[in-house]
Amino acid sequence: MMSNGPILELRNVGKSFGSNRVLAGINLAVNAGEIVTLIGPSGSGKTTALRCMNFLEAYDEGEILIKGQLLGYSGTGRELKHRDGAGLIAEVRRPLAMVFQQFNLWPHLTVLENVCAPLVLGKKMSRDDARKKATAALAQVGMLEKAQARPARLSGGQQQRVGIARALALEPELLLLDEPTSALDPERVEEVLDVIKALANNGMTMVMVTHEMSFAAKISSRVVFMADGSVIESGAPATLFRQPQTERLKSFLAPWFKRPLQLDDAEATHA
Ligand SMILES: Nc1ncnc2c1ncn2[C@@H]1O[C@H](COP(=O)(O)OP(=O)(O)OP(=O)(O)O)[C@@H](O)[C@H]1O
Ligand SMILES: [Mg+2]
Repeated sequence: MMSNGPILELRNVGKSFGSNRVLAGINLAVNAGEIVTLIGPSGSGKTTALRCMNFLEAYDEGEILIKGQLLGYSGTGRELKHRDGAGLIAEVRRPLAMVFQQFNLWPHLTVLENVCAPLVLGKKMSRDDARKKATAALAQVGMLEKAQARPARLSGGQQQRVGIARALALEPELLLLDEPTSALDPERVEEVLDVIKALANNGMTMVMVTHEMSFAAKISSRVVFMADGSVIESGAPATLFRQPQTERLKSFLAPWFKRPLQLDDAEATHA
């Protein structure tokens, strides 16, 4: 399908849990090939924003468009009343796949079965076709050798690589990643970041929540800083990290500036 517009667009998206307005009017457009990272303090709404993009969480203000199609609701306007059926929602969000912080693998299934399951159950693919796709995806993240293992036998880094393979097998046009390395032991972080870096180099479009500031600086086309459910600043990583405009971003970044932050690569890539 040809489309010149953004793959994903959020227009004034809001979300409340009871009286707590967790997202307060988010605007964001993600074009093919872009890598957008969301940063911000705990509780600022990053995960909620990511879950709304995939309609794992129903937003209740504004609009989310995936390749120009309204996600989750029929009709537009301030009042989003008519929730679409699950089938239509699944169809609209098909270009997206999600990688979870806690991997969310099924413990009773093998690695291969974990990657096949969404293809067979969700995409109604034959077992043979699913197995082929899953095998290719596992090879892509270097996990084919463990295809017959159960998740409990794998390290956290390996489990997350399987989580990434499961998303890749769906052949998404845009990958959502929620802190993909924050549940890992420090020595396992790099192997997962390397897989994400390889996807980036292959042109995968991504929206990623991360606390890995050096990595965000290196990989992002755009960094979005959120606080209290709003986008406070966004821009190219070299600009955003070097010249924060708001006190909020300055104080958020302060702890990282005490450590060496490697921005040279970011400038080389995205200058
Ligand atoms: N299912 C829920 N029910 C009620 N409140 C929720 C729910 N999910 C999130 N919240 C609240 O929404 C706010 C934003 O949470 P969210 O998880 O999006 O933050 P975050 O930026 O991802 O934080 P962190 O960096 O800690 O992961 C928090 O105040 C949280 O308590
Ligand atoms: Mg979160």
